[in-house]
Amino acid sequence: MPLKVGVVGVNGIGKHHSECHANDPLAKLVAVCDVIKQRADETAEKHKVKAYYRLKDMLDAHPDLDIVDVATGGSENGGWHFEPAMEAMRAGKHVLVEKPISNDINEARQMVAYAQEKDLYLGCNLNHYFTEPAAKAKALMDSGKIGEQIFCLHRMGFVGGEFNYGGASTSPNVAGFPYFHVKAFLAHPFSIMRYFCGDIKDIQAFMGRPSFRKKADDVMVSINSIHVRFVNDSIGYLFSQRGDATMGLGGWWSIEVGGTKGTFCIENCVEKLTFTAAPGAPGAADPANLVLGKAPEPEVTNTGVTDFGLTFPSRIHAFLEDVTNKVPKHKLRASGRDALATLEYTFAAIESYEQGGILVRPAPLPQLRRDPSVA
Ligand SMILES: NC(=O)c1ccc[n+]([C@@H]2O[C@H](COP(=O)([O-])OP(=O)(O)OC[C@H]3O[C@@H](n4cnc5c(N)ncnc54)[C@H](O)[C@@H]3O)[C@@H](O)[C@H]2O)c1
Repeated sequence: MPLKVGVVGVNGIGKHHSECHANDPLAKLVAVCDVIKQRADETAEKHKVKAYYRLKDMLDAHPDLDIVDVATGGSENGGWHFEPAMEAMRAGKHVLVEKPISNDINEARQMVAYAQEKDLYLGCNLNHYFTEPAAKAKALMDSGKIGEQIFCLHRMGFVGGEFNYGGASTSPNVAGFPYFHVKAFLAHPFSIMRYFCGDIKDIQAFMGRPSFRKKADDVMVSINSIHVRFVNDSIGYLFSQRGDATMGLGGWWSIEVGGTKGTFCIENCVEKLTFTAAPGAPGAADPANLVLGKAPEPEVTNTGVTDFGLTFPSRIHAFLEDVTNKVPKHKLRASGRDALATLEYTFAAIESYEQGGILVRPAPLPQLRRDPSVA
């Protein structure tokens, strides 16, 4: 039986979520809700479902809803996630919330604790690693082909530069928030790094903004250079920027994870994976031929996919699959706890930057509670 889903907040991203649920065999889109009537009506009309303008009314009218999908925005694109997510969980609904889980660390902690208390699934739309290259890269790691992890290099950035800069945003979600980019966006790169390399224990950050932003009185701290140490003691680096320059290597984001037995690179998120076996490993180039400057030949997987939008249906499908299969709560993919981890790292990075680049240890995550009924 498909899961009954209601979507809250149906502008840009919520419309996309509604479409994903409407097209997914594991879901039945039942209702949509937006405080702006026209938006709710348009999406409802498109999918022939009921429109609501307050979440309470949607919950009262559909007591059999299984999932509430929260795609609202708010300050720093996360300021309006807490209330609808908590209201839906109070009503006993599983929740999928957009990223960042919240723009407020205390709210995010409460959301994760409340989902645990109510024994509900709380997932977050950390969609960037629900892709074919990420699945293949994870399989390489799991099969031991990377070996002991040594480094992780991640870069992510919007295409831009001074010529196309349009001046400081006047959107109320952005204007006046220096950490808009940091809070609204770093959930993605941190979630990717953590997916492959595990929890982060130390963070050090330098941040800035280019002169064209300063001249426009744009307070947004848009350039982030972040150095991390993972719990497994390997080292990582993240460079992220919001359209201050155009990145030439690896599309809009790339990641390289190198270990003692091999290295993988994902280029352009959905597009390409390369794997290079370390010299001496089975199938690797002969070490004798590897003079400096002569790179070993990688194995290349080119998916032919360049549409990042396809990460939405695959991530949303994974959430529907996990809820349908009643996976133990601690096995939920891209869980609220995973999203909280990214926000703890984000707040640690902000603290480091504000204090001149000191080393900051992110606050510990709540303990993973295994379900005792699952062997
Ligand atoms: N995962 C991704 O790749 C990705 C990409 C872009 C944006 N996002 C996230 O998606 C979210 C939504 O982004 P957007 O650009 O569509 O935002 P938006 O502000 O354009 O739309 C949000 C909608 O929610 C409605 N809303 C707000 N509070 C509400 C409430 N309490 N009840 C009912 N309706 C409410 C607003 O009226 C609006 O129509 C943000 O959190 C953003 O960070 C995620």
